Amino acid sequence: MGRLTGKVALITGAGNGQGSSEAYLFAKEGAKVIATDIQFDNVSDVVERINNEFPGSAIALKHDVSSEEDWKKVAEEGVNKFGLINVLINNAGILSMQSFTDVTYDIWKRALDINAWSQFAGIKTVVPYMKKAGSGSIVNIGSLASIIAAGGFNPYTASKGAIEALTRAAALELGPDNIRVNSVHPGGIDTQMTRDTFTTEEARQAVTNMVPLKRLGQPEDVANLVLFLASDDSSYITGTEQIIDGGVWIQ
Ligand SMILES: NC(=O)c1ccc[n+]([C@@H]2O[C@H](COP(=O)([O-])OP(=O)(O)OC[C@H]3O[C@@H](n4cnc5c(N)ncnc54)[C@H](O)[C@@H]3O)[C@@H](O)[C@H]2O)c1
Repeated sequence: MGRLTGKVALITGAGNGQGSSEAYLFAKEGAKVIATDIQFDNVSDVVERINNEFPGSAIALKHDVSSEEDWKKVAEEGVNKFGLINVLINNAGILSMQSFTDVTYDIWKRALDINAWSQFAGIKTVVPYMKKAGSGSIVNIGSLASIIAAGGFNPYTASKGAIEALTRAAALELGPDNIRVNSVHPGGIDTQMTRDTFTTEEARQAVTNMVPLKRLGQPEDVANLVLFLASDDSSYITGTEQIIDGGVWIQ
C-alpha cells in the first residue's frame, strides 16, 4: 500500500519542475492526481508518462491559478473524475527579477496574483470538498526568499511572504475541520525557473557555492518533503514553515 493510497490530490504547476516530480511521486504512492498547469501541453505529457506507468491515476487540466473561475472548473472536473479532494499542493509560481526602481504596479500585481492570490483562491475552492471528505492536507509552496533577505526580486519575495502568513492563518482556522496547512520554502532547486534566472555556468556555480551541501536541490528532494506533508505520516504537523535549502539559511 502506498503512502497516499485512497487520496485524491490536486497539484498546480504540474507541467514542469517540482510540480511534475510531485505528480509522479504521488501517483507512485497510490494517489489519484489532478495535475494542472497553464501550459497544457506540458502537463499532458507529464500525465501521459504517469499513466503509462500507473494506469488511470492522473488527469491533466489547463488552469491559470490566478483565475478563480479556473479554480472552480478544475476542482469540479477533478472531483467528477476521482471523488472528493484530500490534498492540495499550491505549487505553481513565477519568478521575476527587478530592482526596486524598475518594479511597476503591473509587475507587482502579476507576481502577487500568480503566486499568492492563487493560493488563497485554491484554498477557498478546495476546502469545501475537504470538509465533506472529513480531512485534508494543504501544502503551499513558498520560497527561502521570504525567510532570508533576498534583494533583486521584491514582488516575488513579498508574494512568498504572503504565503507564509496565509499558511498560519489558514492552519488556525481550518484545524478544527481536521485540515492541515503547511508551507514549504525551497532554496535553489534545479528547475527551469533557476535555469532561466542563472543563465551562465559561473552564475550557477556562485549559487551552488553558497550552499553548505554544495549542490542545488533536485525537484525530487522537494517532492519527498511535500509527500510527507501530504500524507498521514505528518498528521500532527500544521501551520509550519518547512525550509529545504541544503543549509543556506543557517549561515
Ligand atoms: N526553483 C527554485 O529554485 C525555487 C526556489 C524557491 C521556490 N520555488 C517555488 O517552487 C514552485 C515551483 O517552481 P519550479 O522551480 O518547479 O519552477 P518551474 O518554472 O519549473 O515550474 C513552474 C510551473 O508553474 C506553471 N505556472 C506558471 N504560471 C502559472 C499560472 N498562472 N497558472 C498555472 N500554472 C502556472 C508553469 O507553467 C510551470 O509549469 C514555485 O512556486 C516557485 O516559486 C522555486
